[in-house]
Amino acid sequence: MQILLLGSGGREHALAWKIAQSRIPCNLFIAPGNAGTSRCGQNVPISVNDFTGIRQFVIEHRIDMLLVGPEDPLVKGIHDFFLADPLLRSTPVIGPVAAAARLEGSKDFAKQFMVRHGIPTAAYQTFDAERLEEGLNFISSLNPPYVLKADGLAAGKGVVISHSREEALKEFTAMVRDARFGQASARVVVEEFLPGIECSSFVITDGNSYLVLPEAKDYKKIGEGDTGPNTGGMGSVSPVPFADKVFLKKVEDRIIRPTVEGLKQEGLNYIGFIFFGLMNVKGDPFVIEYNCRLGDPETESVIPRIKNDFVELLIAVAERKLSGQAILTDPRTCATVMLVSKGYPEAYEKGKPVTGETEVNGSLVFHAGTAMKDGEVLSNGGRVIAVTSLGNNMMEALETTYRNAEKIEFEGRYFRKDIGFDLK
Ligand code: AMP
Ligand code: GLY
Repeated sequence: MQILLLGSGGREHALAWKIAQSRIPCNLFIAPGNAGTSRCGQNVPISVNDFTGIRQFVIEHRIDMLLVGPEDPLVKGIHDFFLADPLLRSTPVIGPVAAAARLEGSKDFAKQFMVRHGIPTAAYQTFDAERLEEGLNFISSLNPPYVLKADGLAAGKGVVISHSREEALKEFTAMVRDARFGQASARVVVEEFLPGIECSSFVITDGNSYLVLPEAKDYKKIGEGDTGPNTGGMGSVSPVPFADKVFLKKVEDRIIRPTVEGLKQEGLNYIGFIFFGLMNVKGDPFVIEYNCRLGDPETESVIPRIKNDFVELLIAVAERKLSGQAILTDPRTCATVMLVSKGYPEAYEKGKPVTGETEVNGSLVFHAGTAMKDGEVLSNGGRVIAVTSLGNNMMEALETTYRNAEKIEFEGRYFRKDIGFDLK
């Protein structure tokens, strides 16, 4: 079986690592991949948004399945591109069509979808430049903190939470009128602040049935104690202690099932992963956001807990035969810590030699932003390496992860020392 995986982060290395363990003989290609993924398959230098390049590769290499890691190509319509091409149409794409990827691509669409299907989420209103005054009045009528969200994709930076009304009004104007996040903030969702603790739930769906994957918690802020600017994610743990059976049943009954049913009712062809960013408000789950893909670094903690043959699962999704399957979960805890470049999440350094990987024992090392040059692994992104360990409990998993994280070095390396701090 010939599989092409799109992406180049820690999520894709974790997926590639899992695919490489399948009982089904596979040739795995990763476009563009990183130094880590090249150990699980063959990297090909095609960017995830180069649809023409992907088309040519799929045809030449008789690819049997396309697995899409990041949101960008999905929101831009890679699945639709395949369906519209006679030579690609029969190649299954794991990832939704653009109309369904709007769950991530447009916050306003996601909110309207949730309202239509009675899915619990924060109350909201959406404004554009024509309704600037109304937006300012609406914000002024609310109590702090204020939550402003750019409608479109903004590389994880489009959400502003402000405790000051003055600042919120200024931000709102900058977003809507002055294109603070480019076209993405031409429309802005203003929503009610939900107090609580976050976690993420994931499902894989064939458009008809779905399977719930292990949940995870991500640590988005750069600084310890959840301080400083947001990042792509500095670490993750799975399972999440507060997401007990009662909570997870509420998530499935009130959020997951209505979402999958809602997509079906609306004729949206959703094949692939749905990521539910959740807030636990006094035991009740609310949706903070949908993503049309797996999370990063959540995947690095979720995938090692899945005992199924992953390729068999993907085939079942592609053939729309997921209903006969079940997820087999490792009961142990998985903890991931991300080693990042100096400067991240602002401008950061690249091209630093990464050493010490061979000293690691008892942990998995997933590359997040690396490149191979003359036989040497170099840093090539803000997030560079994810160190992941399984343990009998969270303390044990974190201890192993931190012991090994210390061994991997590159100039300016930084990692948070407190992943899991709020769950202990
Ligand atoms: P998002 O990009 O939608 O995940 O938002 C980024 C972060 O902002 C989330 O991870 C939450 O921590 C926070 N956030 C978003 N919406 C809300 C909300 N309505 N209430 C409280 N926090 C929120
Ligand atoms: N870790 C958050 C995300 O993947 O969006």
